[in-house]
Amino acid sequence: MREDKHVAQATEDHHHQRQQNLATSLSSKLAKTWITTKIYIFVLFIFLLCASLSWIFTFVLGESRFQVTSVFTRNTNKSATTTTNIPKIIIKIPLNCTLLNNNTTQTCPSNYPTKFEPAISSSETCPDYFRWIHRDFKVWQKTGITRDTLEKARPHAHFRVVIKSGRLYVHQYEKAFQTRDVFTIWGILQLLRMYPGQIPDLELLFLCHDKPAIWKRDFKKDTWPPPPLFHYCGHRDAYDIVFPDWSFWGWPELNIKEWNKLSVALKEGNKRVKWEDRIPYAYWKGNPNVSPVRGELMRCNFSDKYDPMVRLYVQDWRSEIEKGFRGSNLEDQCTHRYKIYVEGNAWSVSEKYILSCDSMTLLVKPEYYDFFIRSMVPMKHYWPIRRNNKCRDLKFAVEWGNNNTEKAQVIGRQGSDYMMQNLEMKYVYDYMLYVLQGYGKLMKLDVTVPENATEVCSETMACPITDGGLIRQCMDDSLVMSPSIKAACNLPKPYGDNELKRILKKQESVKRRVRKWTDEYWNVRSGK
Ligand SMILES: *[C@@H]1O[C@H](CO)[C@@H](O)[C@H](O)[C@H]1NC(C)=O
Ligand SMILES: *[C@@H]1O[C@H](CO)[C@@H](O)[C@H](O)[C@H]1NC(C)=O
Ligand SMILES: *[C@@H]1O[C@H](CO)[C@@H](O)[C@H](O)[C@H]1NC(C)=O
Ligand SMILES: *[C@@H]1O[C@H](CO)[C@@H](O)[C@H](O)[C@H]1NC(C)=O
Ligand SMILES: *[C@@H]1O[C@H](CO)[C@@H](O)[C@H](O)[C@H]1NC(C)=O
Ligand SMILES: *[C@@H]1O[C@H](CO)[C@@H](O)[C@H](O)[C@H]1NC(C)=O
Ligand SMILES: *[C@@H]1O[C@H](CO)[C@@H](O)[C@H](O)[C@H]1NC(C)=O
Repeated sequence: MREDKHVAQATEDHHHQRQQNLATSLSSKLAKTWITTKIYIFVLFIFLLCASLSWIFTFVLGESRFQVTSVFTRNTNKSATTTTNIPKIIIKIPLNCTLLNNNTTQTCPSNYPTKFEPAISSSETCPDYFRWIHRDFKVWQKTGITRDTLEKARPHAHFRVVIKSGRLYVHQYEKAFQTRDVFTIWGILQLLRMYPGQIPDLELLFLCHDKPAIWKRDFKKDTWPPPPLFHYCGHRDAYDIVFPDWSFWGWPELNIKEWNKLSVALKEGNKRVKWEDRIPYAYWKGNPNVSPVRGELMRCNFSDKYDPMVRLYVQDWRSEIEKGFRGSNLEDQCTHRYKIYVEGNAWSVSEKYILSCDSMTLLVKPEYYDFFIRSMVPMKHYWPIRRNNKCRDLKFAVEWGNNNTEKAQVIGRQGSDYMMQNLEMKYVYDYMLYVLQGYGKLMKLDVTVPENATEVCSETMACPITDGGLIRQCMDDSLVMSPSIKAACNLPKPYGDNELKRILKKQESVKRRVRKWTDEYWNVRSGK
């Protein structure tokens, strides 16, 4: 860190040197009269302005966050009147895998920062999907969450997380599929490293299966309020609290990298094949056996009357694993102009990868939603496909896209931009932060660490894994190294009831229009 500061300083000195050299040579030529001297002063002033602007662009607006801090630190040092709690040096908290006293049990460091004031306050508003957070908690607004209410969720949960004074404790009830639970807990730990002191004390219960579990029909007056259960997806008939899924921190079993790295790889991959040069068909690859809607989709592959315009492939994970995933690199799958998203058993992790391809996404109407899809707009970010008319809708959409390549490209690009901008890891953490803060406010119970819970930190999770495998790799890649020097984005106002109705109505009318086009096309074809 100090080195960065020196680099910044040295570069600035270099600028000054250049300015002075230029000044000397300029002056020998121009300083003949008073007027030219004035011109020279003016020129020098402009030059200094440019130099400092370029310096600001390089270091303040540049990509490296650490350099940003070094600049900031120096500025505040100069006017050190109101900056008492702004750290002078950015804190780095690398994994400390040192074992104490030859004890083979990894312990959690006691010197984690417990408070960190982000030096840069946020001027940006969070993406629209944050506006749903408030609605997800609405059912508990009046009653709060009591011990009784919380414990009703216990039979559905894979684990309990207790956060107390910034430390995290886990009581695991049931092992989850693969490493879903591991990376979900890892994600919350990274949030704690990112925003020390900002996560309130709380107890939460987490479900790691595919489907939500707290169905509205089961909770009427006598069983009110429903228990709060954290889960990866929601449903209009369920009360589960939507939280980012494990794949943002990696899915090692399927060789899927954590989202920071993967989104960059996808961005690079998109540059490899230009949209016009992509195969003008709709692509889908996955496991068709997890849901009926996927099974039906597979039947769109063939028609003896017309070209169905789809390319569907069965993903055989077992053989992929044996082949070392050579055929399943996500960033190599952006080769078609259109990509189909269809749910699996519930929401599918594949959604963000499909939407990131710069291809127009053909979105088969989902039943379940994850935290970010709720603010996506049909015909802006994706093309809507009916569940019960998939094959015909798909063929029409592809043909339309091939007839209107520019418009199809725009939808594709807007979908990907939504992913790349609104789903940056910083926003994912900000979303988690606001969810946990909102949840913490509802706690009407004494947050206690249960007797069988163990303290968990990045060290206890990562350090014992020394096999050089992908699990540790995903952890190392997604480790939050420093508290965020930038504050969380500003939480936008929650949707008002009428506003939300208006938005949903508008979306419905867009979908209706698409249905009309499609039906007209097929009516003409069938000779009506
Ligand atoms: C600026 O920082 C330097 C080194 O950290 C310190 O010695 C100096 O007192 C600071 N100046 C002010 C005004 O805080
Ligand atoms: C790492 O942990 C060990 C044991 O807890 C401690 O002695 C050491 O100071 C820590 N190192 C750092 C850099 O915090
Ligand atoms: C740890 O164990 C090693 C070998 O067993 C020994 O040489 C060393 O002194 C021990 N260190 C401590 C701090 O007990
Ligand atoms: C190692 O440390 C843990 C936690 O501090 C303690 O419970 C355990 O008894 C220690 N084991 C040994 C062999 O010292
Ligand atoms: C679908 O069609 C493509 C191209 O014709 C073919 O390669 C693929 O194997 C088919 N998929 C299935 C599941 O039949
Ligand atoms: C695409 O253009 C062809 C040729 O003009 C036309 O026959 C077809 O109906 C068009 N399809 C759509 C979906 O617009
Ligand atoms: C803690 O674990 C012990 C032994 O496994 C068990 O008897 C006890 O009921 C557990 N306590 C709780 C609160 O789950």
